[in-house]
Amino acid sequence: MDARVEFTAGATPVQRADRLAAAIGMRPGALWIKRDDLTGLAGGGNKARKLEYLCAAARAAGHTLLVTGGGPQSNHARATAAAAAYLGMGCHLVLTGSPPAQPSGNLILDRLLGATVEWTTGPPEEAIAAATAARGGYLVPFGGSSPTGALGYVRAADELRAQVPDLRLVVTATGSAGTHAGLAAGLGDWGAVHGVRVTEFGDLRERLVRLAEGSAALAGRPAPTGAPTLDGSQLGGGYGVPTRAALAAIELTARTTGLVLDPVYTGKAMAGLIDGLRSGALDPEATTVFLHTGGLPGVFAERYAPLW
Ligand SMILES: Cc1ncc(COP(=O)(O)O)c(C=O)c1O
Repeated sequence: MDARVEFTAGATPVQRADRLAAAIGMRPGALWIKRDDLTGLAGGGNKARKLEYLCAAARAAGHTLLVTGGGPQSNHARATAAAAAYLGMGCHLVLTGSPPAQPSGNLILDRLLGATVEWTTGPPEEAIAAATAARGGYLVPFGGSSPTGALGYVRAADELRAQVPDLRLVVTATGSAGTHAGLAAGLGDWGAVHGVRVTEFGDLRERLVRLAEGSAALAGRPAPTGAPTLDGSQLGGGYGVPTRAALAAIELTARTTGLVLDPVYTGKAMAGLIDGLRSGALDPEATTVFLHTGGLPGVFAERYAPLW
C-alpha cells in the first residue's frame, strides 16, 4: 500500500449494539458499530482515514499547503483543516455559498483550526482548481475520494475482518463514494457492503467501480467481485435535506446506544439499515457492522440545530 501518515493510533473500536438491534428486529450479537467517529483529528469521521494517504502523497511531493472545498458544513473541509494543523501545513478552503452572518457547526472549527476560507457561488471544482493553481498547493480531491484516498477504507476493511470474524455486511453512507469503494476493495466483494446513497451524483455507480478498481490496484489486490449495492431509498429531498426516517433513526440510535448520528450522512445510513430490515432486503440474522462515519459537528449547524 502507499505511504501513510497516522492520525489514528491503532484500530477504531467496534461496539456491540444489542439494544438497538432488538429495537430494529435483529438478534443479539448481530449488530456492531464501527466507531470511525473516533478517528482522531477535530471531531473524527471517515475523512481522517482518507487524509492519512492523501497527506502522505502531498508531503512526498513537497507541498506545504492543502487546498480543498465543499459545502459550507463540509466535514471533509474541516478534517482537512485539522490534518493540515496537525502536520504543520497550511489549509485553504473553497466553500460554496456566501458567508453566514453567524458561523455554526463545522465552519466554526474551520476557522478555529486556522484554515483560510474563500466563498464561491460558481462551480466549486473550478474555484478549487483556480485557488490551487494560484497558491501552488496540493489539491485534496472532493470528499477525499480518489483511489489514493480510498486506500484508507481498504485498511479499515482489514481492521474489520480482524475485529468481527463472522462479518457478513457493512452498512455505510455513500456520498463521494470513496468509503464504500475502499471497503469493497478491502473486503474483495461488493456484496459485503450496503451503501445508502446520500448524494445525487448521476454517475455514482461508475464512480464506485472506478475508485474500487483504482484503489485495489494500488493495494495490489484483485478488484472486488459482483456489483455495487446502492440503496437509494433514503435520499428524500436530496443531499443535506433531512428526512423523517433519518430523524427517527438518529433519535432511536441516540437513546439505545448513547451515540449521536447526523442528519446528512449517518442518520440516512441508519434509516437505510432499518428500512432494509423492515422490507426484507437485509437479513436480521447476518452479522452486520454499521459504520459510524462521524459528522457530529453537523448536528450543531444553524440549518439543523432547530430539529432537535
Ligand atoms: C460524516 C460523513 N459520513 C459519510 C460520508 C460519505 O463518505 P464518502 O464521501 O466517502 O462517500 C461523508 C462525506 O462527506 C461524511 O462527511
